[in-house]
Amino acid sequence: MAAFRKSGNTASPDRSSAAPPGACKPDVATTIDEVRGRVALHRRRHEGAVGLVPTMGSFHEGHLSLMRAARAETEFVAVSIFVNPAQFGAVEDFDSYPRDTGGDLALAAGEGVDLFFITDSGEMYPAGHESTISTGSVAEGLCGQARPGHFSGVATVVAKLLNIVGPDSVFLGQKDAQQVAVIRRMVKDLDFDVEIRVCPTVREPGGLAMSSRNAYLSPEEKDQARALYLALREAREQVAAGETGAARIRRQMRRAIAANYLVELEYAKIVDPETMQPVQEITGEVLAAVAAKVGPARLIDNMILSP
Ligand code: PAF
Repeated sequence: MAAFRKSGNTASPDRSSAAPPGACKPDVATTIDEVRGRVALHRRRHEGAVGLVPTMGSFHEGHLSLMRAARAETEFVAVSIFVNPAQFGAVEDFDSYPRDTGGDLALAAGEGVDLFFITDSGEMYPAGHESTISTGSVAEGLCGQARPGHFSGVATVVAKLLNIVGPDSVFLGQKDAQQVAVIRRMVKDLDFDVEIRVCPTVREPGGLAMSSRNAYLSPEEKDQARALYLALREAREQVAAGETGAARIRRQMRRAIAANYLVELEYAKIVDPETMQPVQEITGEVLAAVAAKVGPARLIDNMILSP
C-alpha cells in the first residue's frame, strides 16, 4: 500500500517515492478547511481542472472506474468518503453499511487520486445544522417511493461537497441513474458551476451490477440477483427488436425476476431518463429501472433502452 499523510491548510503535494510509477501519493484531509486549503493551493498554482468523485467508501471496481475517469479528464482528483446518515431511513442499513477506510485507500492506491476527504457527521452536520435541499418530482418515483427523504439527503450532501471542493467536474455512476437525475436537476436549478460526468455501470462477471451492498449476499443470493441484469438485458433486446409497449416490457421483466425465489422485486419500471416519469409508448431512449430485496440487501440496476 502506498503511504498516505494528512494534509494541512498549506500542505504541498508530496510526490515522492512509495506510490506506483506515474502516480503520486494523495493527501488525506478530514476537515472542510483542509480540503479548501488544498484545492486553493492547486488553483493558485494554475495546475488545471479539479474533479470530484463523491463516495461512501467500501470501494469496488465501480468506484475505481470513476477515479480513472476523473484522472483522465482532470488534473486534480478529489475523492470524498463519507457514509451520509441523511440519506438513510430509520430502518435502513446506516449502522451496518460496510466501512473499511484502510482497505479503500489500499485499493485506490495507484489510481492517481490527489486528495481523499475522509470525514464524519460532526464535520458535515455540526450542531445547529438544519438547511437541506428540497427535491422535486424527479425524486418521487422509483427509489424515492420506498425511501422517502433519501434523495433530499443525497442532494444535500452533494451540494455541500460541491461547495467544499468547488470541482470543475463531478463523476457519478450510471448505476444510480435516479441519483444522477436528481443531481442534474439540482445543479441546473441552483446554478452550480460544475459539469456532470456519468460513467458506465461496472458489472461482475455474471452481469450483477457492482455495489457495496453485494457484500451482504450469500453465493446463492448473488447468483439469483443476476436476474435483475438478465431481465434488463432482455428488455433492451426486445426494444431494439421493435417492441414499443412499456407495459409488455414491464410484465416480461417482472415475470423473469419472479422466477427467482430469493429475489423480492420492489419495482420494474420504464421511465424517461431525465425526468424519471413513467413512459407508456417507447419512441426514443428510455430507462428501464429495477429494485429488489435479495436477502439483506436492497439492490438497484438499470439500462438505457433504444428503439
Ligand atoms: O452514490 C453514493 O455513494 C452516494 O449517494 C453519494 C453520491 C456519495 C452521496 O452520499
